[in-house]
Amino acid sequence: MILVLDFGSQYNQLITRRIREFGVYSELHSHKMTVEEIKELNPSGIILSGGPNSVYGEHSFRCDEGLFELGIPVLGICYGMQLMTHHFKGKVERANEREYGKAEINIAEDPIIFKKTPRNQTVWMSHSDKVIDPPQGFVVDATSPSCPVAAMSNGEINMYGVQFHPEVRHSEYGNDILRSFVFDVCDAKDDWTMEHVVEMEVEKIRDQVGDRKVLCALSGGVDSSVVAALIHRAIGDQLTCIFVDHGLLRKNEADDVMRTLGDGFNMNIIKVDAKDRFLSKLEGVSDPEQKRKIIGNEFIYVFDDEAEKLTEIDYLAQGTLYTDIIESGTETAQTIKSHHNVGGLPEEMELQLIEPLNTLFKDEVRALGTELGVPEHIVWRQPFPGPGLAIRVLGAITEEKLKIVRESDAILREEIKEAGLDRDIWQYFTVLPDIRSVGVMGDERTYDYTIGIRAVTSIDGMTSDWARIPWDVLEKISTRIVNQVDHINRVVYDVTSKPPATIEWE
Ligand code: XMP
Repeated sequence: MILVLDFGSQYNQLITRRIREFGVYSELHSHKMTVEEIKELNPSGIILSGGPNSVYGEHSFRCDEGLFELGIPVLGICYGMQLMTHHFKGKVERANEREYGKAEINIAEDPIIFKKTPRNQTVWMSHSDKVIDPPQGFVVDATSPSCPVAAMSNGEINMYGVQFHPEVRHSEYGNDILRSFVFDVCDAKDDWTMEHVVEMEVEKIRDQVGDRKVLCALSGGVDSSVVAALIHRAIGDQLTCIFVDHGLLRKNEADDVMRTLGDGFNMNIIKVDAKDRFLSKLEGVSDPEQKRKIIGNEFIYVFDDEAEKLTEIDYLAQGTLYTDIIESGTETAQTIKSHHNVGGLPEEMELQLIEPLNTLFKDEVRALGTELGVPEHIVWRQPFPGPGLAIRVLGAITEEKLKIVRESDAILREEIKEAGLDRDIWQYFTVLPDIRSVGVMGDERTYDYTIGIRAVTSIDGMTSDWARIPWDVLEKISTRIVNQVDHINRVVYDVTSKPPATIEWE
């Protein structure tokens, strides 16, 4: 296991990810971790991430300096190297100017972490302060025109530092450098595979749950489906899932989830048909925030009603991901999003949480799903908001409008898949703005609805760009929607990024 300590770099998660890609388990933790806590984790190596501070800053992030005395190899990246230098009494120069971008470095005689890389190479720099004198006992491993100490090491005590960012793809040989640290210096084992993750998690869940019972709120999305499949693998019938059909799902979605997980996996799933409950509460409501609130609350009431009918449930399973846990600089506790997936469950349920995905990134969850045999169309499902189609019918919701969105969305999804774009486009759907316009069909004038297509590329949904769908694909989608969906006579494509727009229209 390789421990990464977070000093606030925007690249901190990347380091952990790169190491996991080598098949070595890695966790990102707060820089505040104590030596005792580190010892408990028993890492084979420690990486100190970069960060925005200066080691001379009054409030700059520090670490428990005892970690330098543990005998565990340490790699300091950028600020991490400056911190190491400061600790071992080398010299860090304060700078007001930032060096940002690509730089050429020159490698000295055969340093261990560069041994699989050429003598001259391009790296990615992003720093202000820099090391100008390495501590006693350290040698300079690389220099660049602006950094006299672009890398340094003290092999005797296994301390290594690089001023640049090997975790960023622009560092040509960054992966080789990290690999050398992980395997040649730390002697870590590459035994972290999805097969192994399944084994470990199954065992953990069995230990934790024993013969007690677990409840899982199933939305049909990737995370909750994989959680359910994993827990089901561990404890079978001790798991009960509740799937609430609020009448705002996509075409065939409810049947698909029930067929795949219920029949296919033999899971206990209670499907609650709450369509009338939700739609009657939403009748005539056109304000987006009010719609969300009504749906969120109603979800809780429905879930609560169903959960009450069950007896002896002790655990509530959630699909919390690692990203949820480590956001906001790993200062986070497990509590920030404890009820995130189901929109805030009632406190008085007093169920203990079980969150088996909370050490995994989204793509790892997908790989885990595949390992568990969850079908591809669920594993690769695009994000779908809790309030569902309610926020894609702008203004007041009617059955007719929901049908228009459902049908047009199904056509869009079919064509995007047909064009082989379904894994490249992060999210794609149709929206029904509350406008009608004049058209002509056959020889007749029409006065009907406009449908909007929204398709975006994104990494995490926080920002996004509109997807450059080829025109012939757009043309085919538009023609099919106008011809096959009643009451649509015009199709528009949303070419706005986020910001300034958002992904959803409401
Ligand atoms: P926005 O529209 O804020 O969406 O750019 C960002 C991502 O979040 C999804 N989204 C939601 N997901 N409950 C959810 O579970 C919600 O209320 C909600 N609103 C937006 C949206 O689909 C996109 O992926």
